[in-house]
Amino acid sequence: MKNKIEEIKQQLADIKVESKEQLEDFRLKFLSKNGSIQSLFADFKNVPKEEKPKMGQLMNILKKDAQAIFDQLKSEIKSDNSTEEKKIDLTMPVNFEKPGARHPISLVRKEIIDIFARIGFTISEGPEVEDDFHVFSALNFPPEHPARDMQDTFFIEKDPDVVLRTHTSSVQVRVMENTTPPIRTISPGRVFRNEAISARAHCIFHQVEGLYVDKNVSFADLKQTLMYFAKEMFGEETKIRLRPSYFPFTEPSAEMDVSCNICGGKGCNVCKYTGWLEILGCGMVDPNVLNQCGIDSEEYTGFAFGMGVERIAMLKYQVKDLRLFFENDLRFLDQFQGAIW
Ligand code: DAH
Repeated sequence: MKNKIEEIKQQLADIKVESKEQLEDFRLKFLSKNGSIQSLFADFKNVPKEEKPKMGQLMNILKKDAQAIFDQLKSEIKSDNSTEEKKIDLTMPVNFEKPGARHPISLVRKEIIDIFARIGFTISEGPEVEDDFHVFSALNFPPEHPARDMQDTFFIEKDPDVVLRTHTSSVQVRVMENTTPPIRTISPGRVFRNEAISARAHCIFHQVEGLYVDKNVSFADLKQTLMYFAKEMFGEETKIRLRPSYFPFTEPSAEMDVSCNICGGKGCNVCKYTGWLEILGCGMVDPNVLNQCGIDSEEYTGFAFGMGVERIAMLKYQVKDLRLFFENDLRFLDQFQGAIW
């Protein structure tokens, strides 16, 4: 009897079980009614009386061990086999889905806001559906000015007085109407123009308008403010230059270029070998505009500027086609940082 027990022990130690079939063979061989361990119990009656307690103990241990080995093999085979029901561990960390990210236009808009907020500019907003006064008349556009042309402006339901704003300069009018200087504010927002969509133009885009009105505001303040902005946005090495220009609502008016952030001003295909990139329009608020908005132009002066967010984003991220910002193609959007969380 003792030898038989040892023999089965050895078999259990040597056994290899790698599949469900082999597991079943194991069960039949050792644990079933006709299995080798059960047959030991059948032979138990032949064990001499004095050996019975000892043998009984050994047999029970053997039976327990065989059952434990079987249970262990069974659980290993289950977890190996992916089609089998898997044990679910509810304490496992969740597999996070990609949570999405901010749109590049939102990123740049936020960066512009942050830069001006650091020097005390507040944010103002105005309506996208505007009246002629706030978009044009108050801003010194003569009635025959080409910007009023049907080509550029979306009108609302045949009422020529109601328009989709073509620029965020309309917000500076609203702010000036309602605020006593000093005024220091920026106005980010969507604007609309009746333009053919191309790599460089869209009928909907974003602008940020800036306005500063106080006593003794000078062109030097404008230059310094814009230089600060350009360095913050494009890097400390950035240079600016102002070219004389014309806008009805500023006098004098200028357009600002920044040194090309790709070639550092040496000339490349992005800056068309000029070393400069145009980024915004600006100027001293025309006294007529101040007066139209109820601010005494004898007492106060101011500067204003306006920039296109898409334009800045194109330069910052080297995007050659403006339409990419509107297509919501994840292969494009995935390339920008700024996860929501
Ligand atoms: N409103 C102008 C545009 O849409 C941009 C602009 C130019 C705004 C000069 C200003 C400014 O405030 O002073 O093209």
